Amino acid sequence: MNYFLWTIGCQMNFADSRQAAEELERIGYQEAGRPEDADLIVLNTCVVRQSAEDKVVGRLTSLLGLKRRRPALRLAVMGCFVNEIPELEQRYPWVDAFIKPSDVPALIDLAQQQAAGSEMDVNEIRIPQSEFPVSAGVPISQGCDHLCTYCIVRLRRGPEVSRSVQEIILEVRRLVARGVKEVTLLGQNVDSYGRDLSPASSPPQVGGTEGGRHPDLADLLARVHEVEGLERIRFLTSHPADMTDKLIEMAARLPKVCEHMEVPVQSGDDAVLRRMGRGYTVAQYRNLVARIREAMPGVGVATDVIVGFPGETRSQFEATYRLLEALRFDMVHVAAYSPRPDTPAERLADDVAPGEKERRRQDVDSLQERIVGEINAQLRDQTVEVLVEGRHKGKWR
Ligand code: SAM
Ligand code: F3S
Repeated sequence: MNYFLWTIGCQMNFADSRQAAEELERIGYQEAGRPEDADLIVLNTCVVRQSAEDKVVGRLTSLLGLKRRRPALRLAVMGCFVNEIPELEQRYPWVDAFIKPSDVPALIDLAQQQAAGSEMDVNEIRIPQSEFPVSAGVPISQGCDHLCTYCIVRLRRGPEVSRSVQEIILEVRRLVARGVKEVTLLGQNVDSYGRDLSPASSPPQVGGTEGGRHPDLADLLARVHEVEGLERIRFLTSHPADMTDKLIEMAARLPKVCEHMEVPVQSGDDAVLRRMGRGYTVAQYRNLVARIREAMPGVGVATDVIVGFPGETRSQFEATYRLLEALRFDMVHVAAYSPRPDTPAERLADDVAPGEKERRRQDVDSLQERIVGEINAQLRDQTVEVLVEGRHKGKWR
């Protein structure tokens, strides 16, 4: 039996797909190079913007012919595209299963049912053949409790649910045993990790966790740091309103934690931030970045920006531009605002013209290209430690 996995979207989806591939290979599936050679096709989807959703629909539609030719083929769709399942089943009757975001066990159940109906020996445990990465994502929480008005992800993934410290440590140990040197702890908002956990799920005294309160991300970093053989730890995404000094100090103190933070600002204008429901002001954000840079000299700071949010005037956009110019991020993920169904912002007039949104997006891109060029130029003739993840287009990555 062969599987073909197609993934788009956030690092969470890629981490889920990595885990799904590992589990599928453990029960005897092998990776197919193309969908035509697969018995099981999995689409791990994203709908954060309309353009992502369009790609998913395109992919789904293109698989109809294959399914008609080979009815035994199983087609599963997971990720944030999956919402009202009965409605999806009606619209895409050639899909065998719609699986909620990150529900890898449900996917494996489906594969096991398929394998049980074939000649394949499902009890045969195989050692996965595919090359294991040197760096892997580890989900630490699902969902999000924030109410950003433009965001569909929180609607599709539900409220925040944290995994226990023990479960995460076990997964990290397992990955390290397979050669992983770097883990990225993943969540829509990792800074609020643990708020929903009971104090008992983290043993007191270990890694600085006090008894009587729930573990937080700082405690978790300390515990992950103790895993022998692991060399690097990253975490993302942070929320500016939830990042504590305790977390910054812990990240600065632990040698394995990379000097790297992902803190989305989204806009450099207070009125836009308010309409986005972000819960901080530009001044508070600037202060946070200053605290991070003071605690971690040389830290790389990445951010996300949405341009063309409803009502964003030219001067409000210019405030964002000036903020990016002043803070000089190492990476800016910039996106043009895309109205998403059932979000509060969808009810606001999407009044920035597409051409203007695109111009603002390109302005940010060009600015950032210049800034990154300048930052990179400072690395000339320096010797730094790098982690080689593999080769890409003939170059080490
Ligand atoms: N939790 C993170 C945060 O605090 O912002 C990010 C999660 S969000 C799913 C990932 C990124 O997608 C956001 O930072 C935002 O820039 C972008 N995004 C989300 N919804 C969007 C929309 N409707 N239009 C354009 N970009 C959007
Ligand atoms: Fe979405 Fe905001 Fe959470 S962007 S995932 S509601 S922090």
